Amino acid sequence: MTTRIGIDAGGTLTKIAYWNDEKKLKLKKFLSSDFHAVRDWIDSNHSLASICLTGGRAEQLKDCLFSKNEIPYIVEFDATMNGVMYQLKQEKVSCSSAVIANIGTGTSIHIMNGQVHSRIGGTGIGGGTLTGLGMALTGITNYLDIIETSKQGNRTFIDVLVSDIYEKNKLPIKGSLTASNFGGIAIKTQNEKSEPDLLAGVQGLIGEVVSSLCIQAADAHGFEDIIFIGSTLENNELLQQVIESYTLLKQKNPIFLKKHGYSGAIGALLENV
Ligand SMILES: Nc1ncnc2c1ncn2[C@@H]1O[C@H](COP(=O)(O)OP(=O)(O)OP(=O)(O)O)[C@@H](O)[C@H]1O
Ligand SMILES: [Mg+2]
Repeated sequence: MTTRIGIDAGGTLTKIAYWNDEKKLKLKKFLSSDFHAVRDWIDSNHSLASICLTGGRAEQLKDCLFSKNEIPYIVEFDATMNGVMYQLKQEKVSCSSAVIANIGTGTSIHIMNGQVHSRIGGTGIGGGTLTGLGMALTGITNYLDIIETSKQGNRTFIDVLVSDIYEKNKLPIKGSLTASNFGGIAIKTQNEKSEPDLLAGVQGLIGEVVSSLCIQAADAHGFEDIIFIGSTLENNELLQQVIESYTLLKQKNPIFLKKHGYSGAIGALLENV
């Protein structure tokens, strides 16, 4: 029987981590708009477990759980770092100092130096941008449909590349770099801007904004490694490709952990409370 559960109640998704009877790590997620489903799942499967909460919506979830006991809460950034360290160990990735980008609803950027970590910034461009802007541009509401559709897209007429501007001049930087995300819509005359193209453009916007902020942070701190986490990377090879190629181009080492969005929940599970 499960005795402990770690829960990360985020802006969009509530992630749960627990050990099963065979001591295997199990993961589950719910929409944060449906805390009743979380409560029902706990009540019917793990009613006796001790829970540790993290995440920005932890208080709201706590209200919905009606627990007789006080439910411990740990600060989201501490839980996330614990979860990252655990996964690095599990996946045998050797990395003691890195920039960490958590691409959740929004994106939070941290640095980890040995056991010490701090939040250094972030951007409102994140997973919420993928679903929200994606929905505004195409009407597609389902996350997996957005991801699948974006894979068929082409950013040629959506973005402006450096080479589009420096057409006949000597290039000051690599011509294949994006000069303007979505700038092509206003500048280029072609009308072929399909739903897949628009969604591929959104993926490009998110990947390039997040990775360039992380690259600048890595340069400022003298770090090589950048760890990218958050559920926005889940099943999302296109976003991973955008991030990977730009990060490698800037001579940094991108690391993607397998349990993308679950670092906070795993950290809460591991916490000794
Ligand atoms: N099944 C899904 N439904 C909705 N969004 C999903 C789903 N799977 C992945 N996503 C993506 O993951 C993003 C949320 O990521 P994550 O769970 O890491 O953030 P969060 O913890 O809810 O938010 P925050 O940390 O900013 O409070 C969504 O914005 C969306 O882009
Ligand atoms: Mg989160």
